[in-house]
Parts: sequence; C-alpha cells; structure tokens
Amino acid sequence: MPNNLSYEEIISLQRKTNIVDIIRDYVPLTQKGKNYFGVCPFHDDHNPSMSVSSDKQIYKCFVCGNSGNVFNFVMEYEKVSFMEAVKIVADKVGVDLNINIVKNKNIQNKNNRLYDIYDIACKFYQNNLNTAYGKVAKKYLSDRKITDEVIKEFNIGLSLSDTELYNILKSKGFDDNEIVESAVGVKNGNHVYDLYKNRIMFPLSNLDGDVVGFSGRIYDNSSESKYINTKETKIFKKGELLYNYVSAKTYARKEKQIIVVEGFMDVIRLSTIGIRNVVATMGTAVTKNQASLIEKLAPNIILMFDGDEAGNKATKSYIDNFSYDQDNIKIVRLEDNLDPDEYILKYGKEKMEYHLTHPINMYEYKISDFKKNMDFNDSKKVSQYINLVIPEIEKIDDDIIRDLEINKLSKLTNVDKSIIVSKIKFKDTNDVKMNKKEIKMTKYEKASKFIIYSMIHSNEAIINYFNNLSYLPDDKDRMLANDIVLFYKKFNGFNINDFITYISDKKDLINLIIEIDELDVKNSNDSLDDYFDTIREYQYTNQIMKLTNELKNETNIIKRKEIAQKIVELKMKESK
Ligand code: UTP
Ligand code: MN
Repeated sequence: MPNNLSYEEIISLQRKTNIVDIIRDYVPLTQKGKNYFGVCPFHDDHNPSMSVSSDKQIYKCFVCGNSGNVFNFVMEYEKVSFMEAVKIVADKVGVDLNINIVKNKNIQNKNNRLYDIYDIACKFYQNNLNTAYGKVAKKYLSDRKITDEVIKEFNIGLSLSDTELYNILKSKGFDDNEIVESAVGVKNGNHVYDLYKNRIMFPLSNLDGDVVGFSGRIYDNSSESKYINTKETKIFKKGELLYNYVSAKTYARKEKQIIVVEGFMDVIRLSTIGIRNVVATMGTAVTKNQASLIEKLAPNIILMFDGDEAGNKATKSYIDNFSYDQDNIKIVRLEDNLDPDEYILKYGKEKMEYHLTHPINMYEYKISDFKKNMDFNDSKKVSQYINLVIPEIEKIDDDIIRDLEINKLSKLTNVDKSIIVSKIKFKDTNDVKMNKKEIKMTKYEKASKFIIYSMIHSNEAIINYFNNLSYLPDDKDRMLANDIVLFYKKFNGFNINDFITYISDKKDLINLIIEIDELDVKNSNDSLDDYFDTIREYQYTNQIMKLTNELKNETNIIKRKEIAQKIVELKMKESK
C-alpha cells in the first residue's frame, strides 16, 4: 500500500471513477450488451478481446488473461507504479490528491546517442530550408502549396550534399561508427558520407514522438528513386510505424475515427483543410503491425488509399488480411486515379469532405469489385457472381440489412430469392457475453474455486471459511482466501472492487479472483459445506498418504504405533 495516501482516499477515488471512461482514453471501446469491448493493448491483438464491465468496474482480456481494475489498467498501459496510476486517474477524474511522485525516467541509455543524432540532423535539415541553399527546394514546396506554416508543423527540412551533416556530427563528438549505425551516414571505402543528398526531408517518429528516422524526397527531377527511407536500425522499423501517429492519435480519439492514407503528402494536405485524424502507411505494403496500431487508434477506420489500381489493390489486401469486424472499416475510393493530396488540390475541400462523410462499407466495396467485367446475360457468370457475393452476405450481422441485400441480389441477377436464401448459412446471433469458460478441474480444484466464489459473494461464507476450514490445497487459492479473510476482518465487510484496490500489488491474485468471479458455478447443486468436506477429504487423503509413507520407513515400534493410530483416526474422519 502507498505510504502517503490512505487506502480510504484511494477507494473513494475509485468510486468516483468509471473504468469505461478511463479506458476509453486509451483504447476505443464499443458497447455490446452490458459490457464494452476493445482491442486488448496487452498482447498483439486484432479482435476486440478485452471486455470492460461498468457493473463490476473491471477489465479482462479473454485471450491473454490480463485483468484488473482501473488502476491496474493504467499501471500496465502507462508502465507506471501504483501511485502514479492513482495520480493519473485522479487527474482525469478531476480529483485533487495531495501526492508527489518522482517520475520513472525513461531510460534509453545506450540508444540516447542515436536519438541525439536524429535531433541534431532534424534541426540541421530544417535550418537548411531557410538558407541560400534552400531556395530551389523552397520554390518546389511553395509550388506544391506547402506554406511555411505547414513546413514548420511537419518539421520538413532539406538535406545538402556530400558530408555536411557528417561534419557537424563529427564536430559534436560522434564517431564514424555511431553515424553509420544511425543510418544518416553511409560508409564508402574508408569514408563516411551523408546518406541523404539534396532531398526534402520528412522526419519519422516512433510511437512516443521521438524522431527515429527520415524519408527524403527528390525535388529536382533527378531520376533517382522518389523517396529514400532510413534503413532499419535498432530503433527504426518502418513497418512498425505510421506517419503522423502521435499527432493523429489525439484527434482520432476525439472523433472516434482514423483515416488511413498512403503518403506523407496526403497527411499533410488533409491537415491544411482541417482534417487531422490521419495517418499514412508510407506505401501500399501495409504490415500486420501497422494494422494493429490503426485498430487501436479508433473504433472506426476509413481507408483512403490512392485512387489508382495500386491503391485499389492495397485496399483489397487490407480488407482481406486485417478486417476482423465487418462494421468498423469503411472505404473511400477517389476518382481519376488521384491520391488525396492531388484530389484536394484539384477538387477542393468540400468534395473531399463529402467523400469522407460518405464512405462505402466493406460489403459495398467488395460487391462493386465483383461487378467489374460482369455480364448479367451470361448465366455461368451470374452463378459465379452469386457464389462470390453469398459469403459476403453471410458476414452481415444486421438481419434487416441482410434481407435487403438478398432482395437486391435477387433483382439484379433475376434469380429467385428462395434459391439465394437456400444457399446462405445463417449465423447464430447469440449475445456476446463475458466469457464463462467451462474449465476442466479436479473435484478438489472445483471445490476450492467454489469456496472462494462463495466468499466473494457472501460475508457468511467468509466467516464460515475461517471458522471451519481455513485451508485450501492450492497455494494461490489459499493466499487469496487468506487475504479475503484479512480484508473482511479489517474492514468489517467485503467488496470485490475495494479488495482489488487493496491488493493492487498482487497482480496474480487479482487475475485469479476475477477469473473465479467469472466462473459459472452458480448452478452447482452442492452446498458450501459439501465443498468444505471435499477439501477436508483431500487433506485427510493427503495426510494418510504421507503417514503411510512414514510408516514404511519407520523401524521404531513405539513410533510406528503412533503413526498407525493417527492413520486410523484420519480414516475415520475421512469416512464420516
Ligand atoms: P506515392 O508514390 O504515392 O507518393 O507513395 P506521394 O505520397 O504521392 O508523394 P508525392 O506526392 O509524389 O510527393 C506513397 C508513399 O509511399 C512511400 C512514401 O511514404 C510515400 O508518401 N514511398 C513511396 C516510399 O517510401 N518510397 C518510394 O520510393 C515511394
Ligand atoms: Mn500518392
């Protein structure tokens, strides 16, 4: 327990807090029935497998098993101590707590030097744009309608020729190895040269907002590749980043929507018309890692890749590989093969806004894709078409929409509705519930869990336990039961939420109690006393086994007699 805040103060804060609101600040949540669901931030998750209960004020991931209350969530998410988590929650709720916290410094130690290099490089590149060397680049940018304001906001810069950055870094004490390791320099023979020569520079940041690499664009019509990116380093992996991630995060959370584009210029142009919940995948090869980041940014995703065939392919591939929820991804396809940047320049803000407020859903996108090169007079093709569309119809959860789509398909193809319906496999539409697992347990394990379950739900059971049993075979179960008894004695009552806060430093017990609370043991016919007997039986059987072993090895007649006597007593108790 913390030293400078009382347990009561923390409990009172917890009661003022709604876990759903706090977790929402970190992870998009959607309500299904009584519970809320989101993508679990504690493992590489793609489905919404974390449920948050506002009744119980706890979260739990079905897949990785991480669970706890609001403080546990913040502790794990922010990687902070319990007291820091309390402080963060208090700030969010607007409660003034009198605590001072020494912040855990982010220790980057050895990598610090790399970050320093990017910092220096960034400033150097930015400054170049405003010098005489930057004239042509500046003109290029202004021709592309990139204002000074935008240059500043996105920290756009300019690299020079040969060894300018290298010389600066050397003069600041960095050696060749470090410069090559950072990948702003490349070795050629015995010499190190700047990697980026005469390019417009876009800094790339990690998820914390630190610059960890660059992308440099040609601007003078040279025939080299359009963009050069930093090669992979210890701290830069392009496939694990999204351009504009940190800035977009705030807007995406607020608007509950994230717009995904391909390029830097798309992000930048959209920002000039006030659309800032945008990240770029930096090309059409989207990685699983990027998709997972995107999903965690907002519950609604709009894919707006370039309007050309490459962009169409990227859209299809994203849907095929990374869509787990039929409803949360919507699509914008731009006309004339344009990318969002070009589209805004050609058609203006309003047309872009119209697109973004009228995206098509995945179903419509796929159907329109199937329709390409379709000939509805060719019966073979019609049959093929129906077989392509049916799996998509099966994915529609809403039965009214599903029925409307079936009607449309029937009309379009001139095939009788009943034939189409007969081909559709209808899903069970059971409510999503907190996962009540039927775990295979021995009768002793089952008894142990039932006893704890009863203690969670009844004070009498707690009293009964410490008066009449006070023992469970499993170490963790026993520790948990002990703590429940201690808590009960100390506070004259029991409440699972307060208890979880009380044992906040014992994460394994928290996961255990939440797991037990979720078990489906209510429909058990046995009473608490029956379960006590089962545990006693276990105790006796165990002790008899131990004593029988002792008896085998004991040679002293008197001692043998004593042991035998004990075994008889136990056997009598066991058979009672
Ligand atoms: P595009 O070729 O569509 O570039 O590539 P763009 O964003 O429209 O750029 P401008 O308008 O010509 O300046 C989309 C994105 O793919 C990445 C970049 O992130 C680019 O923004 N890319 C492209 C590379 O990393 N390397 C390349 O050679 C090309
Ligand atoms: Mn583009």
